[in-house]
Amino acid sequence: MPPTTPKTIAAALMAAGQSCRTSVTGEPRGPLCGMGICFECRATVHGVPHQRTCQLALPQHSPQSPHPPSPIPHSPSPHSLLVVGAGPAGLSAAATAAEAGLAVTLLDDNPALGGQIWRGPMPEAEPWLERLHSAGVQILSATRIVDAPASGHLRAERAGQVLDLEYRQLVLATGARERFLPFPGWTLPHVLGAGGLQAMAKAGLPIAGKRVVIAGTGPLLIAVAAYLRQHGAQVLALAEQASPAALARFTAQLRLSKIAEGLRFARILRGVPVYPGAWPVEAQPGGVRLSVRGRIREFACDYIGSGFHLVPNTELAQMLGCATQNGSVLTNDQQQTTVPGVFCAGEPTGIGGLERALLEGAIAGAAAAGRQPTPAQIAERDRLRRFAHRLDRVTALRPELRSLPRPDTFVCRCEDVSFERIREAAALGGWRAAKLLTRCGMGPCQARVCGPALEFLLATPPDGLRPPLFPTPLSALC
Ligand SMILES: Cc1cc2nc3c(=O)[nH]c(=O)nc-3n(C[C@H](O)[C@H](O)[C@H](O)COP(=O)(O)OP(=O)(O)OC[C@H]3O[C@@H](n4cnc5c(N)ncnc54)[C@H](O)[C@@H]3O)c2cc1C
Ligand code: FES
Repeated sequence: MPPTTPKTIAAALMAAGQSCRTSVTGEPRGPLCGMGICFECRATVHGVPHQRTCQLALPQHSPQSPHPPSPIPHSPSPHSLLVVGAGPAGLSAAATAAEAGLAVTLLDDNPALGGQIWRGPMPEAEPWLERLHSAGVQILSATRIVDAPASGHLRAERAGQVLDLEYRQLVLATGARERFLPFPGWTLPHVLGAGGLQAMAKAGLPIAGKRVVIAGTGPLLIAVAAYLRQHGAQVLALAEQASPAALARFTAQLRLSKIAEGLRFARILRGVPVYPGAWPVEAQPGGVRLSVRGRIREFACDYIGSGFHLVPNTELAQMLGCATQNGSVLTNDQQQTTVPGVFCAGEPTGIGGLERALLEGAIAGAAAAGRQPTPAQIAERDRLRRFAHRLDRVTALRPELRSLPRPDTFVCRCEDVSFERIREAAALGGWRAAKLLTRCGMGPCQARVCGPALEFLLATPPDGLRPPLFPTPLSALC
């Protein structure tokens, strides 16, 4: 196995056994999400405070793309089609629309295009980049939308500068994030999200020979365990909270292509103990305890990757007034949201995987160019949506997980607010009271981490979405 070298500051700090920041109560903290939403990896870099080190390449690893990003536009320009998010859905939408003749701008918070699955950059993203380049798509990487001040107008932040972007039509392809559930010890630096740990490995964290436990729920756990094993990690356990019966029912309904994919993963993971009906109950320095069908098992390990399926990123859509249902953005057959001129594709419309993201992106891009989806596309998307519903059912969280956090477990990691304090405050008036009395959800993650956890733990959905969507330097806003 060739040695890997860290490519980002966060990966370098982790490799050196260093934390990134110290929390408000003095705890050392390291990366959790690996994708830029938790802000646990922030540090002062070259005198600039609060930099997300998981997004910052070490100088020798700054992206050397054959297609350099477009220069920053100096004044608002009416973009015929603006695509937010350059994961599979956004790439597909941008390429399809540009090839149909629209002037397209594609932007993404991440420094490299490809979204979560093709983070890296990965070779799979290359053909898409070629298509974007040939079709003349303007690309703004490391650029995040922070506000929607008026109809047809978005505000973005890039390297401390604010960009005002006008658009005639918009495709929202903002993807999803992991759902994290708090358990005692989950704030220790060796505990990351499952996707977060994979993202750090893709960023060059040396993983070969490391002892890893993967726990939570959903197919991402399998993909991550396979990736880490292929890169030399010792995967000691893969714990899935779903019951064996639920998993068997789900597997029995899989199509041949999915069964083939499952067999491929099974080959890679041969010999790895897989525990259905199991979840993490406590992490300590150098280890983790799992509940395995009612029994506690201890594992000494270097890293724990724990994630409980995914949550659609609907914040921008909601800010624009798009209707949502069961946590996903509502769209019609053309991926049109309830707001005219605004389309949505990929994970914000429901957690459905790569195929669905690519297909919805193609439908949205074509629809923006005035083309109808074909009956075959609609039928395929409906089939993929039914698969997503089955996935939602099998990954539904079991009630026992509500007792994972102890009263003193921090649920809000930004402000170090304990479960007990939040529970008491929420009893007085739901999410709003919890926010006002404890500041939970008001730190840099802006409830992206604690919100979905509290929605499950206390049946208190977050509310009060307001700009900026991501922390933005005052100097930029002024
Ligand atoms: C952490 C993680 C790891 C994953 N790893 C795998 C894997 O290994 N294998 C697998 O099969 N599936 C994986 N998935 C699932 C995979 O992401 C989906 O199956 C699918 O590919 C999603 O495509 P998408 O285009 O909808 O979203 P994404 O790929 O998530 O792309 C969305 C993009 O939108 C950007 N974005 C969001 N909000 C803004 C904003 N306000 N401004 C600017 N940009 C914004 C994000 O930076 C992101 O790049 C992973 C998911 C996550 C969350
Ligand atoms: S690990 Fe960098 S923002 Fe979450």
